[in-house]
Amino acid sequence: MIAGTPGTGKSTVTRLLSEKCSVRAINLSELALEKGFILTYDQDRKTYVVDEDKLVNYLRGLASETSGIVVNTHYPEIIPPDLVDKVFILRAHPLILEKRLSSRNWDRRKINENILAEIIGVVASNAASAFGEHRVYEIDTSYSSPDEVADLICMVLKGERALEPGVKIDWLSIMEPSEVLKFEDYLGSEN
Ligand SMILES: Nc1ncnc2c1ncn2[C@@H]1O[C@H](COP(=O)(O)OP(=O)(O)OP(=O)(O)O)[C@@H](O)[C@H]1O
Ligand SMILES: [Mg+2]
Repeated sequence: MIAGTPGTGKSTVTRLLSEKCSVRAINLSELALEKGFILTYDQDRKTYVVDEDKLVNYLRGLASETSGIVVNTHYPEIIPPDLVDKVFILRAHPLILEKRLSSRNWDRRKINENILAEIIGVVASNAASAFGEHRVYEIDTSYSSPDEVADLICMVLKGERALEPGVKIDWLSIMEPSEVLKFEDYLGSEN
């Protein structure tokens, strides 16, 4: 699985992996839309609510047919652990992530919500709880290109490179409090 906060590069890296690494790589939310595995549209969050049961059943079928498949999602814990070998968590320094997300047509609240999630490491820690730290591999994409990230994952999948598992990246420890507080308006608007 390839997971990470929005803007860390999952879709870009997944596309490159399927082009360069001869693995089958799919984008979970695109698959859900394509197959109609959708319960409703959440107006407030401007996002589709996925029918997880249907999606998981479909993936289980795919997994039994193919030798291996790379699945890109920002919500890895919906996949049952027995289907999961490795979870690559793409990470990005929050100020670099801000640059990537600012080029999207998103409102500030949604951008800040996601940057705060990256600062706290929500996706990485949820993946570690769901699958165990031994299956979680963080990749810092801050100063590398999408090609370099895809090549690294490809080498790991082929057993040509080993990464140390575990959740180690802690952006809070290297950020100034004022840099973090810049993004707090999302929290403020919730209270
Ligand atoms: N090292 C890198 N790895 C991946 N993407 C990078 C990297 N450096 C810069 N980028 C850029 O960051 C952006 C990431 O966007 P992308 O849509 O791939 O993210 P995503 O994680 O799939 O987001 P979402 O969860 O919203 O689908 C792209 O424009 C990509 O070119
Ligand atoms: Mg994506």
